[in-house]
Amino acid sequence: MANFKIAVLSGDGIGPEVIAQGLKSLKAVERKFGHSFEFKEGLIGGVAIDAVGVPLPDETIQLAQCSDAVYLGAVGDWKYDKLDPAIRPEKALLGIRKALKLYANLRPAFVYDELVECSPMKKDTVAGVDVMIVRELTGGAYFGEPKGIETRNGEKIGYNNMIYTQSEIERIAKMAFEVAMKRRKKLCSVDKANVLDVSRLWREVILKTAESYPEVELSHMYVDNAAMQLIRNPKQFDVIVTENLFGDILSDEASMLTGSLGMLPSASLSASGVAMYEPIHGSAPDFKGQNRLNPIATILSAAMMLKYSFNLDKEGEAIEDAVRKVLKEGYRTEDIMSEGKTLVGTAEMGDMIASYV
Ligand code: IPM
Ligand code: MG
Repeated sequence: MANFKIAVLSGDGIGPEVIAQGLKSLKAVERKFGHSFEFKEGLIGGVAIDAVGVPLPDETIQLAQCSDAVYLGAVGDWKYDKLDPAIRPEKALLGIRKALKLYANLRPAFVYDELVECSPMKKDTVAGVDVMIVRELTGGAYFGEPKGIETRNGEKIGYNNMIYTQSEIERIAKMAFEVAMKRRKKLCSVDKANVLDVSRLWREVILKTAESYPEVELSHMYVDNAAMQLIRNPKQFDVIVTENLFGDILSDEASMLTGSLGMLPSASLSASGVAMYEPIHGSAPDFKGQNRLNPIATILSAAMMLKYSFNLDKEGEAIEDAVRKVLKEGYRTEDIMSEGKTLVGTAEMGDMIASYV
């Protein structure tokens, strides 16, 4: 019997709908295993801009900091596209990652046997794929200074700075090796060391860190090749470690192996303290309120929370098993629908998974 505080930041677009489905499963876990979770809601993204004028209010950061975990939906809506970039909803996501020092983003891409048909790729290529992308989350071009748009010699220039310190690379490298040790002990570090200086340092630090993990089979791949290999032969990968922007791109690519962006959960971890769990997809504002989107990525993110933040492995597995069972029985949201299956909405999918927990 355990007690945990969970900060619930539903955000924008379909965020509240998918989070509601995840909460159903967490409540089912409470009942079944006799734990108690205290859910406290906070504002983030466009809803926070509308309510208090900023995308990431201080109260939200405080709420997150005094919780055991953060459960996030999604942020962003077209209607904020014209706002000053400093107060756009996406700023909130980057801001909370930075404020909580969530440097390690774990994005598993796992292909369920039941969904092999949904992938746009050949069945033989994707059946059995199980890749974990470890994305650095608080460095690189997303945060590097200097950055901006200015006028030089009469024309505008825009620039960002992909920058990493040795210690930033070291800590994500250690995390990735640790993750690999608990899996198939294969790690592929993705960089662009043939062109970028920042990648040359990246590779140097990865190699140094590898000395402490002799059991892990390490390889290096340039990011362009990695993008190609993920399509050509995704089964060659176990754990992939890469910097922020490359990881952003490769994880969206990897999601297509699984059949849908709506299937991929994520965990963002810090050295100590609170971690954050969210689906890798965005807020899909066009689908808001239509009960059409797949809540499984968000539900599986709750399972990751149970495992990684609360050490409740069996409880996390109960959610994962429930997802598998629902898929096995043929229930599908629109994004993973195929012939002969039963189409259900977001809420029905959430109910069914919770009831199987
Ligand atoms: C993600 C998203 C975010 C990112 C955006 C919304 C800022 O694409 O979590 O992958 O680029 O990190
Ligand atoms: Mg992304």
